[in-house]
Amino acid sequence: MSEPRKILVTSALPYANGSIHLGHMLEYIQTDMWVRFQKHRGNQCIYVCADDAHGSAIMLRAEKEGITPEQLIANVQAEHSADFAEFLVDFDNFHSTHAEENRELSSQIYLKLRDAGHIATRSITQYFDPEKKMFLADRFIKGTCPKCGTEDQYGDNCEKCGATYAPTDLKDPKSAISGATPVLKDSQHFFFKLPDFQEMLQAWTRSGTLQEAVANKIAEWLDAGLQQWDISRDAPYFGFEIPDEPGKYFYVWLDAPIGYMASFKNLCARRPDLDFDAFWAKDSTAELYHFIGKDIVNFHALFWPAMLEGAGFRKPTGINVHGYLTVNGQKMSKSRGTFVKARTYLDHLSPEYLRYYYAAKLSRGVDDLDLNLEDFVQKVNSDLVGKVVNIASRCAGFIHKGNAGVLVAGNAAPELTDAFLAAAPSIAEAYEARDFARAMREIMGLADRANAWIADKAPWSLNKQEGKQDEVQAICALGINLFRQLVIFLKPVLPLLAADAEAFLNVAPLTWNDHATLLSNHQLNEFKPLMTRIDPVKVQAMTDASKEDLTASATDTGQAAPAGNGELAKDPLSPEIEFDTFAAVDLRVALILKAEAVEGADKLLRLTLDIGDEQRNVFSGIKSAYPDPSKLNGRLTMMIANLKPRKMKFGISEGMVMAAGPGGEEIYLLSPDSGAKPGQRIK
Ligand code: 2FM
Ligand code: ZN
Repeated sequence: MSEPRKILVTSALPYANGSIHLGHMLEYIQTDMWVRFQKHRGNQCIYVCADDAHGSAIMLRAEKEGITPEQLIANVQAEHSADFAEFLVDFDNFHSTHAEENRELSSQIYLKLRDAGHIATRSITQYFDPEKKMFLADRFIKGTCPKCGTEDQYGDNCEKCGATYAPTDLKDPKSAISGATPVLKDSQHFFFKLPDFQEMLQAWTRSGTLQEAVANKIAEWLDAGLQQWDISRDAPYFGFEIPDEPGKYFYVWLDAPIGYMASFKNLCARRPDLDFDAFWAKDSTAELYHFIGKDIVNFHALFWPAMLEGAGFRKPTGINVHGYLTVNGQKMSKSRGTFVKARTYLDHLSPEYLRYYYAAKLSRGVDDLDLNLEDFVQKVNSDLVGKVVNIASRCAGFIHKGNAGVLVAGNAAPELTDAFLAAAPSIAEAYEARDFARAMREIMGLADRANAWIADKAPWSLNKQEGKQDEVQAICALGINLFRQLVIFLKPVLPLLAADAEAFLNVAPLTWNDHATLLSNHQLNEFKPLMTRIDPVKVQAMTDASKEDLTASATDTGQAAPAGNGELAKDPLSPEIEFDTFAAVDLRVALILKAEAVEGADKLLRLTLDIGDEQRNVFSGIKSAYPDPSKLNGRLTMMIANLKPRKMKFGISEGMVMAAGPGGEEIYLLSPDSGAKPGQRIK
């Protein structure tokens, strides 16, 4: 037997000023399943996280609510912890970045960087709110776009024309906090000299630490040359003061990743078996993995390893990046009720349904994952209830009635148990590689085989025949054993189902290695239904409730980690597509023969389109921009003609028209130049 591995795992720290939603849960569930798998296999795996509690957004929100930032973050931490616990996300520690361990570690790391010459200082000029007496980050400045003249645009880009600019280019700038006209003011800032680490990062990012797509993106940044990183903010700011620099604070993103270390350190204080240095010292042999979304790759794959290197700590073994969550093929949206908070989900549905669905769709890439609510119901009902739990419910009754709940000895189908045994290494490999989708496919393949075998043996028919009772017991005993194997394989994903199954099977908590044995001459406990089907009505109730419970401040976002404190990476990894993928899209000029409102639908227009050789019926969510749909009649637009038809409440939509814009009144249907003919394809 090889030595158990020592592994430390983190998920990104959620901001302490907002609720957890299903986009966040994708990451926490992914990480938790991987951690549970490692523990199931007998490795020492520690999973830490914390709330990301600093920054001006948190300071301002607390002020707005009339409470201290400390009160705000305590309230949010309680909410977050409850959400995670109910989703069965089993942190070994959930701490806060606003904690003493983090203050000490942040100072220590900063001082090491400073003393090694990796910190520069220089004065920068920024807008300052003379009323609030604070410097304004770009997102706190509004004004008129210097290019197109649209009013009310935020500090660095125009939503109307897409221009990007410096906040100082805005016409008629105003503070979004107080409404005052900001003034320009100089201030000394502290910079981390990231270019000092160019060579190290070049090697480290190509040493198997990153998925290929991520490494390629980082290579672009590295090739473009690294910039110094501004790590300071002026008072007032909610964070840690920089040592020896009164009135200067660490920028929230400086102490956030250090929060991973701080959370672990806090855990070490109550777990004497854990040694901080064994995990973080430069010569540590422990593994360290950070699970994150693709929007924060620069912080984790550039700044963070450079900080660790510069301060004399070990670097991560791997940064595991996932894509965003979409719901029903689109960004999560409050108006569609698909911006679902963790709590709202839990009010209506069991956490294990979502854990399984995410597992079934998560592979190791950075592609976005779509939670299609119809498919969700169908898949969970068919796989978990129809395949896995069904085996136990089919067999348990015969054993209780015919043999007082005792599994007989023997093996009625060695070829099946051999197949289960043979599949285990490949399932384990898939889990290890975070290819949960493959693990689930293989497990469901085994469930199909078990069900087919039981159906073929038909114990329910045999049981009615004279003298066949021993055979019935042998079949059902094996059925229960196969169910037990499936539960062992699924336990990292479905810990509650596993616990209930263990109670029914009357066994100690199952570990991965238990798959190599069978129960024989074994007393079962009473069988209770282990999982019920998802009722689609509950899914509808969840989306209805989501429409209601979003506050006006929530935004439509498809990001797993939304911009709580803003200042996200500007360049998330939109996956590149091959030319062939593009060429597979049938883009055509379409003539709108008729545009009409759809009764009972707030957002939709029904479009009858002429695409040359045929007419198409397309539903499009553009009504808010075209309150008088008849104005569209006779107009040309562009459509995707080979999109799989989608069944909607109001009929079948046979394609999609193309429009751009942020939404509401600002949706702009695309048009070809005049002269284009319906049916012409994009070349
Ligand atoms: O993007 C976010 O939601 C950040 N709060 C993540 C921080 S992760 C780590 F670096 F602390
Ligand atoms: Zn503009």
